[in-house]
Amino acid sequence: MSRGPTTPVGKYPQTRMRRNRRHEWSRRMVRENILSSSDLILPIFISNEMGKLEKIDSMPGIFRHSIDLISDIVGEAKSLGIPSVALFPATPPELKTPMAEEAYNPNNLICRAIRIIKESHPDIGIICDVALDPFNSDGHDGIVRDGHVVNDETIEALCRQALVQVESGCDIIAPSDMMDGRVGAIRETLDNSGYNHTQIMSYAAKYSSAFYGPFRDAIDSSGFLAGETKDTYQMDPANSDEALREVALDISEGADMVMIKPGLPYLDIIWRIKENFGIPTFAYNVSGEYAMLRYAADSNAIEYTKAIMETLISFKRAGCNGVLTYFALEAARVINSQ
Ligand code: PBG
Repeated sequence: MSRGPTTPVGKYPQTRMRRNRRHEWSRRMVRENILSSSDLILPIFISNEMGKLEKIDSMPGIFRHSIDLISDIVGEAKSLGIPSVALFPATPPELKTPMAEEAYNPNNLICRAIRIIKESHPDIGIICDVALDPFNSDGHDGIVRDGHVVNDETIEALCRQALVQVESGCDIIAPSDMMDGRVGAIRETLDNSGYNHTQIMSYAAKYSSAFYGPFRDAIDSSGFLAGETKDTYQMDPANSDEALREVALDISEGADMVMIKPGLPYLDIIWRIKENFGIPTFAYNVSGEYAMLRYAADSNAIEYTKAIMETLISFKRAGCNGVLTYFALEAARVINSQ
């Protein structure tokens, strides 16, 4: 008995995944994740040099903005629909000390910038890092004693730093220092001073990463790092369960949202955190990740805009509510032109 074909032409395959992909309108119908400008947070480097944009050698296309020009870039972000900006100061070297006192000077660069932005653009959110590295002559996020970054003494300085930033108008405090107990201490300090509405976005899972290199160049904190490395407070890239413990702790201490940093090499961590906690979760697509794509595009190895959009949607797919990224303006321009 002759057997006919088991898979007659026209019937096989029954499921054709390509049907939904055939037309652009159809691809849009089945799209699972969408990046909007509301998902973007723009980091801005601030400098004390008046009237200019300073190039950052390791981050082509990104500048340090003097505070008299800061409202321009914030206005651009605002008009593109970006809800918030994250500020990072490049503190003049003569103001950096071992105790990082400049961190809680109410007239430091960051506090002045916040006041200027709040005046010119009151309806954009301002996020400020809390960590001592921009102000510390040792280059560390905390105070160094006998070669060690000391935890509890650092926290006292961080609380003071958070307070001057909030008093200047900062909306979201983002502790990026990885000291133990800092979220709870900052929450208490803010609540005791009448700022119980100020949000905390903790850099809960921050890894000790090579991808921060260009950032340290941007705020001029590289080259220092006295004593031990940041490995004694930032996380080991080999660990994943530990990130869940960090996040659980920060939530119990009062974090309103959490950040994972860097972004791309840690998409699995983002996924686990979002699945476990369901808390507003953000990724920091850090300076080294920016540099990777930027240098690759500059040498024509990849198509810049497409690579950016593909990168950013990966964060949404992994479960992020938003991404802090040096591509924010570029991506928002693309989104707005669609
Ligand atoms: C410091 C801080 C760092 C970054 C943000 N906040 C650097 C570090 O921990 O050494 C890096 C961001 C980037 O690379 O874009 N507290």
